[in-house]
Amino acid sequence: MAETTTTATRPTGFRSAELGWPELHRIPHPPRRLPLLGDVLGVDRATPLQDSVRFARRLGPIFRRRAFNREFVFTWGAELVADLADESRFAKHVGLGVANLRPVAGDGLFTAYNHEPNWQLAHDVLAPGFSREAMAAYHPMMLAVAGQLTDHWDREQMAGRSVDVPGDMTKLTLETIARTGFGHDFGSFERDRPHPFVTAMVGTLTYAQRLNSVPFPALVRRAARRNADDIAYLNRMVDDLVRARRGARGDGDLLDRMLETAHPETGERLSPENVRRQVITFLVAGHETTSGALSFALHYLSRHPEVAARARDEVDRVWGATDAPGYDQVAKLRYVRRVLDESLRLWPTAPAFAREAVEDTVLAGQHPMRRGAWTLVLTPMLQRDPEVWGADAERFDPDRFDPKAVRSRPPHVFKPFGTGARACIGRQFALHEATLVLGLLLRRYELRADPGYRLSVTERLTLMPDGLRLHLERRAGSAAMAAPVANPDEAPVPASESRCPVHRAGD
Ligand code: HEM
Repeated sequence: MAETTTTATRPTGFRSAELGWPELHRIPHPPRRLPLLGDVLGVDRATPLQDSVRFARRLGPIFRRRAFNREFVFTWGAELVADLADESRFAKHVGLGVANLRPVAGDGLFTAYNHEPNWQLAHDVLAPGFSREAMAAYHPMMLAVAGQLTDHWDREQMAGRSVDVPGDMTKLTLETIARTGFGHDFGSFERDRPHPFVTAMVGTLTYAQRLNSVPFPALVRRAARRNADDIAYLNRMVDDLVRARRGARGDGDLLDRMLETAHPETGERLSPENVRRQVITFLVAGHETTSGALSFALHYLSRHPEVAARARDEVDRVWGATDAPGYDQVAKLRYVRRVLDESLRLWPTAPAFAREAVEDTVLAGQHPMRRGAWTLVLTPMLQRDPEVWGADAERFDPDRFDPKAVRSRPPHVFKPFGTGARACIGRQFALHEATLVLGLLLRRYELRADPGYRLSVTERLTLMPDGLRLHLERRAGSAAMAAPVANPDEAPVPASESRCPVHRAGD
């Protein structure tokens, strides 16, 4: 797919940051900067995010890094990030890795520039697809896919084998978004190897990340050819999927909305090219990050048996005898949700988002920025800031998301889903799916960690635990047989209701 960029839409990630930061010299950078190369000493090309977190600890709440001819400003201090969340002065910046995805996702929701008309059009047409009613309609399909996962895990457990957590979570989340959003079955659980869609997607994400660390794309010509093949495959697959739907009746899922729904005010519809880009966007954005979130949560649950026991008690109490909870019974799993939030705090699986000044301004009264200047918010560091989260910020503790503890913190210090108008549209979808699946797994299995495993994190724009395997023990059914007990503390967490699922207090 040829990418056409005008001057106005060319990603500014390829310009040096000093263009927009008149007092850049006041922002610290790593020592031992090399002429031409920049801050490359001691960095690992495969883990740019984790390298940035290391630099952040040494350099403070705002710092910069130079890679060859490009300089990037990173921000993570709570006061600075709260200021960047001010939508009247800042907006999403499409740069770096996100801009590198333009050849595959174009002006799809995630990669669209703010000024592109297709962003507002698609946002307005697709947001109702994440309302409470829509979510309740997806729930039975989510349960069915989770059933495929537990069938697979039962077989592995009976055979005495450990399970491949990230691999199986990826199968689960891909099937879930494909079936709920597009009525499509990838047959992931019937395959020994990942579906070619997953291989092509991982290829494009890895390539997009790699482009950040090379001075000229020409240096990765072979990888670029492979990337072009991956994109061609994704396009073909999506075109087949859309063709099969045209003329057939869907059941009001996301694809139906993309094909059939006109904008409520303008009457405009998404073009066929834009539908293709949205389908790819949702298939990718809708599963990769949730898969990582579930994998990290399972890792922590296996390492903290006391947390797993408390979460399991909650599931048994709230769900009672049923292994097929209703939609509202998932939202009542308050403690399981805290486990998920705490995992996303330590490892936000979309680990950064970029903000640009929409006017000349001064960031937090300290750093002048010209219109268009941008910075990357380093979420893992924001969410581990000892000044906000305490001296034990690195420790896994779901009680940090107890409502009282949440109220005691300033706003904008927990941002795994981004911020403002361009925050994650699929947030409720991801949280519902992940809470449901954690509940089902806790109820069915005891999770046993491999004592030799040390958490290592793979980066491909998103984060994922590398090589995580768990041993399972089936639980005796008795605890699960109790009748549900009413607990006033367990009223469902309010979902998005009829409001736009993206805009919410604190964003
Ligand atoms: C735990 C899971 C997830 C995490 C951590 C996550 C994180 C994020 C973040 C940080 C952004 C903002 C990016 C930016 O500002 O550049 C975002 C945007 C987006 N996410 Fe998610 N996401 C998750 C799940 C999902 C799901 C399940 C879907 C779809 C079903 C989805 C679809 C999108 C889309 C379409 C956007 C772009 C929204 C816009 O700009 O209008 N995400 N996500």
